[in-house]
Amino acid sequence: MGTGRVAAVASDQGASLSAGGYSVGRLLISEDDLQARIRVLGEEITSDYAGRAPLLVGVLKGAFMFMSDLSRAIDLPVEFDFMAVSSYGNSTRSSGVVRIVKDLDIDLADRDVIIVEDIIDSGLTLSYLRRNLLARNPASLEVCALLVRENHRVDEAILRYEGFRVPSDFLVGYGLDVNERFRNLPDIRVVTAVPVEVATDGGAV
Ligand code: IMP
Ligand code: MG
Repeated sequence: MGTGRVAAVASDQGASLSAGGYSVGRLLISEDDLQARIRVLGEEITSDYAGRAPLLVGVLKGAFMFMSDLSRAIDLPVEFDFMAVSSYGNSTRSSGVVRIVKDLDIDLADRDVIIVEDIIDSGLTLSYLRRNLLARNPASLEVCALLVRENHRVDEAILRYEGFRVPSDFLVGYGLDVNERFRNLPDIRVVTAVPVEVATDGGAV
């Protein structure tokens, strides 16, 4: 499948936003581009899972907005569940040590499961989640990630559905946060200034 393209020259639309010492500027992916790409992903899932009722497993909190729009782009009887995981270490880098903060409610045995993720950065969170969910004997397990870093470290073969390849800038908006801020932006933007204390906090993904 194809991957959405991120504009090579980012536009400087909109005033830059500031809150809690963070400065958020450059628009990376517009609301229109996000929604258009999500419609395509929804159509692909609809045709790939025809006749089945996939279980979407959203990874809180970052995936909540993507999960909401993606599910409405899928013309199948989908079901929903959510997991919350927390990665140890600072809030702008994943350590790969993942703790389940909220587990699933639904039994995965014999289900067609799609993990819905906001962003695959190193891929360590995803690797842990896949291992954990595969042990529950689903009929199938695929991954749908809105954003994937160009330099991720996971096997390409496991990235079944992906929205956009993105550079290594720290991103916010459309579910993604920096210390819980900016999740409600309708588009994806680059964080241009982060206060020093952020780098020492533990972070929920
Ligand atoms: P990974 O384990 O390195 O792949 O990190 C994945 C998690 O880190 C994502 O689910 C996000 O919650 C968080 N993350 C990684 N990059 C960013 C970013 O640019 N902005 C906000 N959160 C991010
Ligand atoms: Mg986060």
